[in-house]
Amino acid sequence: MNDGKALLFKRNWPGPFDSEKLWRFRGLPRHCRTGCRGWGFTFRADLPIIPGSRSFFCANWERVTPLDNKQIQSSKKFIIKDSTRKRCKIFNADEATLQQFRPISLELFAYLWEVPTIEFSIYIRVEEEMIEYIRPSELSAELLQHVWAASLKDSGGVEVFIAKKDYPKFEHTLSYVRTRKINALLEKDPSLDRKTLEIFSDLSGASQMVLRGGVNKQVAERVKSAAAFMVNQLMANDLAMSTLSRMIAIVPTLYDHSASVAMFSTIMAKQYIDPKLPFKDAEIIAQCGMYHDAGKSCIPNAILNKPGAFTPDEFEVMKTHVQFGHKELMNAITNGAPIDEIVARVALEHHERFTGKGYPTGKRGRWEEDPELGIHVYSRIISIADAYSALLMKRVYKPALPAEKALELMERSAPDDFDPEIFKPFADGVRVSLETLKKKKAVLEKNTGAIYMIDADEKLVKQIQKTREQNTGPSVKKSS
Ligand SMILES: [Fe+2]
Ligand SMILES: [Fe+2]
Repeated sequence: MNDGKALLFKRNWPGPFDSEKLWRFRGLPRHCRTGCRGWGFTFRADLPIIPGSRSFFCANWERVTPLDNKQIQSSKKFIIKDSTRKRCKIFNADEATLQQFRPISLELFAYLWEVPTIEFSIYIRVEEEMIEYIRPSELSAELLQHVWAASLKDSGGVEVFIAKKDYPKFEHTLSYVRTRKINALLEKDPSLDRKTLEIFSDLSGASQMVLRGGVNKQVAERVKSAAAFMVNQLMANDLAMSTLSRMIAIVPTLYDHSASVAMFSTIMAKQYIDPKLPFKDAEIIAQCGMYHDAGKSCIPNAILNKPGAFTPDEFEVMKTHVQFGHKELMNAITNGAPIDEIVARVALEHHERFTGKGYPTGKRGRWEEDPELGIHVYSRIISIADAYSALLMKRVYKPALPAEKALELMERSAPDDFDPEIFKPFADGVRVSLETLKKKKAVLEKNTGAIYMIDADEKLVKQIQKTREQNTGPSVKKSS
C-alpha cells in the first residue's frame, strides 16, 4: 500500500492537472495563493504524511519520500488549546479580515524580546482563525516563545500578524531596538560610520515589509523613499562598504539581507563601477537589491529557516523564489505600484551566472552584447552584492565570515560566476574601504590611550601615590 508515493485527488481542478506546480498551493502565505482559492486536493490517508502539512510541498509527487517518525512527530498540526480559547479573542480570518492585518517576519518578531512593553497586539493566524494572542498588557517571554514555536512548526498554517492600524507603533518599537543596537555597536567599535548604520536601519524596516507582507502600492512607496534617501546619502561615503561588512559580524541580529544587498549594489554603482551610474539608475539598482528576494515570501518557513543543507527537492523549491518574485513584482506593477519593470527582471535573473551555470534559465554573458541570452547589467551587479552579503551573514549552518575571507572565496568562483568588469572594481573597492576603516580605527586607538594628569598640586599627587601603594604595595624607588 505505502509505496512512498502520494496519490492526489483532484477537486474542482480547473484545466489540465499540473503535478509539477501542485506544491505551490499548499502551506503558502495567503497572498501567494491568489487565483487558486477554492481549489483543493487530498492525499491518500494511509501515507505517513500529515494532510495539510507543509512537509508536503514537493515539486513532483513522484519524488515524494515518506517522512520518518521523527519528522512525523515534529510536523504535528498546531492545535489551539482550550486555555487559549478562553484567554484570547478569536475570530474568523476571512479575506476581508486579513486585509486589516500585515504579516511580520520572524526576524522582526525576534526584536520583541528586547522591549519591556508593547502598544499593540500580536495576532497569530491558525488556518482559518485569527487569535489575538498577546495583548499589550500581557507581553511576556513565555507568550513570545509560544508564538515563535508555533510559527516554526513544520505543519505550517500559522502566521504572525500585526493590525495594519498598529503598524506605525510596531515600526516605532523596531526603530527603538535598532537604535539601541546601533549605539551598542558603536561603543564596541567607534570607528564604524554612524550615518551608514542609521541609513541601513531605515532600509531594513522597508525591506522586512517586502519579505513578509508581499509587494503592494503602499510597500512600494515606502521602499522607494527609503531607497532614494539611501542613494542620496551614500554619494561619497568611503566607509559605508566597510562599516556594513564589519557590522554584520559584530551584531548579526541587526543584519538584513535585502537591505545590505541594496546598499552594497548602490555603492558599486555610485563609487566603484566606471563609468559611475547616474542618480536615477542607482535608485533603481537600490530597489533591485530591496526586491531581489521578494519571491521568498512564497517559500514556506520550514525551508527558509531550515537549520541545515537543503535536500535536492527542497533546493528545487527554494529556486522558485526567482519566478515567484518576478510574478509578484509584475502583478504589483500592473496594479500601479511605483516599481520599474527592470526590478522584476532582476528578481528573475539574480541567480544567473556569467558563464551560464545559474538558474532559472542558464543565461550567460552580457545583455548589452547578447540581448537574447545575456544577463542585464543590474542583475550582474546584484548577483555580486547578493553573494557577498550571503557569505558575510551568520546562518544556523555556517558562521559569519570576515569580509576578507568572503572576498577570497568569491575570487575563487568569480571566473564562473561574475562579470570580471564589475567584480574586479568591486573587490578592489571593498579592500580600499576596509583599509580606510582600519586606519581610522588605528587613529582612534592612538588618541584614546591612558590619560596622564600633570598637576602642580603636590598634595594631590601624593594622595594618588598613597592610594596606589595601598592597592599594589609600595613603589620601588630608583636609586639615583
Ligand atoms: Fe535569491
Ligand atoms: Fe539574496
